[in-house]
Amino acid sequence: MRTYLVTGGAGFIGSNFVHYMFRKYGDDIRIINVDALTYAGNLENLKAVEARDNYTFVKADIRDKEAIEKIFAENDVDVVVHFAAESHVDRSIRNPEVFVETNVIGTAVMLNAAKAAWENEDGSYKAGKKFLHVSTDEVYGSLSDPKDYFYETTPYDPHSPYSASKASADLLVKAYVDTYHFPANITNCSNNYGPYQFPEKLIPLVINNALSGKKLPVYGDGKNVRDWLYVDDHCKGIDMVIEGGKQGEKYNIGGHNERENIQIIKTIISTLKDILPDDDPRKANVSEDLITFVEDRKGHDRRYAIAPDKISKELGWLPDTKFEDGIRLTVKWYLDNMDWMENVTSGDYQAYYRKMYEA
Ligand code: NAD
Ligand code: TYD
Repeated sequence: MRTYLVTGGAGFIGSNFVHYMFRKYGDDIRIINVDALTYAGNLENLKAVEARDNYTFVKADIRDKEAIEKIFAENDVDVVVHFAAESHVDRSIRNPEVFVETNVIGTAVMLNAAKAAWENEDGSYKAGKKFLHVSTDEVYGSLSDPKDYFYETTPYDPHSPYSASKASADLLVKAYVDTYHFPANITNCSNNYGPYQFPEKLIPLVINNALSGKKLPVYGDGKNVRDWLYVDDHCKGIDMVIEGGKQGEKYNIGGHNERENIQIIKTIISTLKDILPDDDPRKANVSEDLITFVEDRKGHDRRYAIAPDKISKELGWLPDTKFEDGIRLTVKWYLDNMDWMENVTSGDYQAYYRKMYEA
């Protein structure tokens, strides 16, 4: 039975990936989820799998060399799927250090531990091992020409401390491939949306604020473009790269779903109005009047857009979910899971929200 070590499995994409893999492979795989449970990690996301015999949660920090080495010593790990990271650009602008520590040092710890566990005495690797490093399209910087796209060959040009830390981590993985022939792939994905996303990110923040009649903060002119991908389609891509990705290669994952932020916000408002029943008192709160233009994010990247040609041609990946369906599913999920929203927006997040938006 293949054993996956998933880091950051209690976060947004990580928890969706755990669900995706158990839906697809059932009892044929084992998953060890290693997560430090920062503000962004929530075990509630994994309630449905926690009783499984083939699922284990280990609370550990990827910067903690001893703890990570112990997990490799006690388990014959076949595949590492490395999601754990500090992931929010705005937080990275306020406090870059922890992004370097977790995203760069943490990745180095993971690489070293996997290499030590998997390497034979002659420098070759045990069969069937792979390290899948999950990264972002933000490492490529910002596109100005509307006809341009990010390809795997696009030079790295990160602008935020978040994207710089992810770019550094990607280059470390590449260095392990080039220097040690380490069995790894890198995936660079566009903006994900779907269930379990922490409401500091645009889509769940807008859903949550609109429902309670709070302002919808739009950075700058609202015309920055992001390329949105439904999270299950990302999980499918990661699984395909684990199965078929060529040694040392990187793959961009994105479904040609470019939207201006303001369009996204208006779509959420109309979807909420459409789904909420007339007798739901929250319906009266939902209005475009809540849209509030605020000071732009420092160094705000204008446009991201992925060319997924390589993963489509080599591995046959295509997204299954059209944006119109995905956003409806997402809005519906948050409406059906208001307890989840209330739990994650209490405490720490409230303090963060006040600091970010008090001006
Ligand atoms: P998230 O912030 O929702 O989750 C991150 C998870 O990592 C949390 O469970 C957190 O507790 C855990 N974590 C943080 N620091 C840790 C540490 N030091 N040790 C162990 N665990 C730690 O992030 P996400 O949106 O799910 O993103 C997952 C990965 O995908 C990240 O590497 C991110 O860069 C990448 N990515 C995200 C997007 C997106 O749109 N969200 C797009 C492309 C790539
Ligand atoms: P976000 O969800 O933080 O993802 P990323 O910065 O990684 O792309 O932001 C998506 C876009 O939405 C980005 O252009 C910034 C913008 N944005 C707002 O306009 N208002 C907000 O309150 C947030 C959180 C983001």
